[in-house]
Amino acid sequence: MILWRGIIEEFRKFLPVSEQTPVISLSEGNTPLIRADRLAKKICPQVELYLKVEGANPTGSFKDRGMTLAVSKAMEKQVRAIMCASTGNTSAAAAAYGAKAGLPVYVLVPAGKIALGKLAQAMVHGAIVFQIEGNFDQALRIVRELCAEDEYELVNSLNPFRLEGQKTAAMEVCDQLGTAPTFHFLPVGNAGNISAYWKGYREYHTAGQIHYLPKMMGFQAEGSAPIVHGHVIENPQTVATAIRIGNPASWKLALQAVDESSGKIAIVTDEEILSAYRALAAEEGVFCEPASAASVAGVTKCSQAGLLPEGATVVCTLTGHGLKDPDIAVETSTRPRTVKATREDVLALLRA
Ligand code: F0G
Repeated sequence: MILWRGIIEEFRKFLPVSEQTPVISLSEGNTPLIRADRLAKKICPQVELYLKVEGANPTGSFKDRGMTLAVSKAMEKQVRAIMCASTGNTSAAAAAYGAKAGLPVYVLVPAGKIALGKLAQAMVHGAIVFQIEGNFDQALRIVRELCAEDEYELVNSLNPFRLEGQKTAAMEVCDQLGTAPTFHFLPVGNAGNISAYWKGYREYHTAGQIHYLPKMMGFQAEGSAPIVHGHVIENPQTVATAIRIGNPASWKLALQAVDESSGKIAIVTDEEILSAYRALAAEEGVFCEPASAASVAGVTKCSQAGLLPEGATVVCTLTGHGLKDPDIAVETSTRPRTVKATREDVLALLRA
């Protein structure tokens, strides 16, 4: 068996690292690409559907790919501490990789709007967590100002090493499929990931690893869709808290990715997101967090609109693990029933 050494070692020649860069890794990457035939039969029978399960990363989201590089480069630069604003997953990854590096970690999150699992991760890894009475966009503004003063290293996706690390997911998809997909579907929040995937695909194309490029398809939640509407949303809302963002940092890069690839950025409703979330769990045995399901909700929409031709290969990135947000899982599923501890009582329920 060949051991996976994490994305920096596996994709070293595509990444801005040298022999001097200390590698801080939790063996992220190498996540499953699962063929989803049962789900495809329901939502897009004319195509081959695959799920890139990024919830299988060490902290349960795609952020680990970017964080391994951002934290390794921060160590190389000998920073004193790292800092980020987050809707939850970035803070979990920063906390874990910061712990691995022995660096202090400061995170700002919107009070009451981060899923319980993510908050638990940031806390258990020992990050200093500040809950601000505001949203992600406000938290990011504060963090950018504080990091400009040089004491703290910013590890949000404005840090270019984050996108460099995240681009490796696109390369992995190509390695796993043996080619590029026809379409790549992603949720869009701060808009870094779709930009990173596009960079990864383009670099693999330049390197001769693939011979065509996929169309990049990004999906924002209805109440948090600044890119689709073309203006900042002051008070973004959505059940998918991970993408509850009204002023994405990588707005321009995301538009460039969809323009250059002839893809698009569009809207899915919270209802469509939750319906895709349940279908993924029920049809494919894959438990992702609500924001992740925006990609599959997008596939459903595009398929209904006749945008996915017969025989196309469609990859959806499922960005985070379902256990990140246990409250939503419990709220949207059938409650267990409680009975007396006898065979008869259980049988009576079974037959009811
Ligand atoms: N899916 C999940 C699960 C996320 O956590 C995020 C972003 C996205 C999708 C959107 O990715 O921002 O690159 O467009 N989460 C960030 C955070 C904002 O703080 O964890 P994006």
